[in-house]
Amino acid sequence: MEKLWAGRTAGTTANLVDEINSSIGVDKRLYKRDIAGSIAHAKMMARQGIVSQHEADLMIEGLEGIERDITSGDLKIDLTAEDIHMFVEQVLTERIGDTGKMLHTARSRNDQVALDTKLYCIEEAESVRALLCDLLRVLADKAEKSTGIIMPGYTHMQHAQPVSFGQHLMAYAMMCERDISRLDDCKRRMLERSPIGACALAGTTFDIDREYEAGLLGFTGIAMNSMDAVSDRDHFVELISDLAIVMMHISRLSEEIIMWATSEFGFIHLPDEYTTGSSIMPQKKNPDVAELCRGKTGRVYGDLMSLLTTLKGMPLAYNKDIQEDKEPLFDAVETVKLCVEAFIEIVDVMEVNEENMYESAKKGYINATDMADYLVVKGMPFRDAYNVSGKIVSYCLGRGCALEELPLEEFRMFSDLIEDDIYQRLDLRTCMEKRNSAGGTSPDSVKKQIEYIRNFIGK
Ligand code: ARG
Repeated sequence: MEKLWAGRTAGTTANLVDEINSSIGVDKRLYKRDIAGSIAHAKMMARQGIVSQHEADLMIEGLEGIERDITSGDLKIDLTAEDIHMFVEQVLTERIGDTGKMLHTARSRNDQVALDTKLYCIEEAESVRALLCDLLRVLADKAEKSTGIIMPGYTHMQHAQPVSFGQHLMAYAMMCERDISRLDDCKRRMLERSPIGACALAGTTFDIDREYEAGLLGFTGIAMNSMDAVSDRDHFVELISDLAIVMMHISRLSEEIIMWATSEFGFIHLPDEYTTGSSIMPQKKNPDVAELCRGKTGRVYGDLMSLLTTLKGMPLAYNKDIQEDKEPLFDAVETVKLCVEAFIEIVDVMEVNEENMYESAKKGYINATDMADYLVVKGMPFRDAYNVSGKIVSYCLGRGCALEELPLEEFRMFSDLIEDDIYQRLDLRTCMEKRNSAGGTSPDSVKKQIEYIRNFIGK
């Protein structure tokens, strides 16, 4: 494709230069935002008398046609063009003649690409948000069905205290809620600052109306410094950081799902459609989806590091280095969307093996804190109660029984505060249900969390 910048130079470049310089293979997916930006630009120019209304209408009509044709497949994006901005402008000129050449007045590809990518970031922050809301919905639904399911709660990967499976799931819902609020934050900041009108780096001699153009594109304000506007990619960094945190959370749940599905745990079962087999071991049913999401977390972290490194030490204003910003951005967005979509389904379809969870919870003296709490209620100071309970645990270990299996006479060797009601108190369900403090694992508390999350999604 002919080079629109052929002026100072002949516009012929070595093949290798074209190859390294071209970004259309990557930025072609920005065509809709590019066209939306150009339409707003044409409107602004007509309003300011930089072009006539008729000229702007021609441009707008032409641009709308290009968008339609690319979307329908009638117009193929020419991959020999340098980038999507050049391609759209060139096709416009082919279609509407010289008026097309006026579109780039009072604009530069530097503010144009800053705008297109910002629009992309805003839209994608919104679409990831919507997916995270769906994930929250399935987490809350699954948790609602699981408020009464007892599982061992762990610290240090050791049995700690019995918790409800609903509580465990709602912990992930809370992470997801923070992920959403981070995205909202990032989106708000992006919407406050439209870069368009910064032009190449220094603004323009034309009487443009940046606020008007920004408003047409949904922004609430404009970037205040043109040099900053064309070289600012902070919002990429913010968005990818937010996405990296989403992946960090997904990788944690992945790890648990992988663990829970092992024969050692046997806490959950994944339906066949969500597992894969092995080419050699006929018995295998592998949790590949969770493993891949855990693995893809590394890619998104890599995207963040790649972008930060590209931006490091970059002098003002636009430098071509910055063209490298889009691959990590698109990769991070697409990877996260895929993984969140996968998790919406995985959480929904995973079948909980209530019995195995309960059997596992019975091991490891998981009710030892409750033994101590029982003694405290009977009047013993906590530190003494802790010691006595520790002694009872080690006595039971030696005897080879669980706390709740110890006969009352033997309990009373340790403290005569212990009475027959100890057995009810040590029951795992009692242990779970009595943790009714705000945010605790009791079914009532989990229900409150579910209600909170449902309200949050509803807003
Ligand atoms: N393809 C370029 C990018 O993605 C567009 C801006 C080009 N600007 C320039 N001065 N060569 O960054």
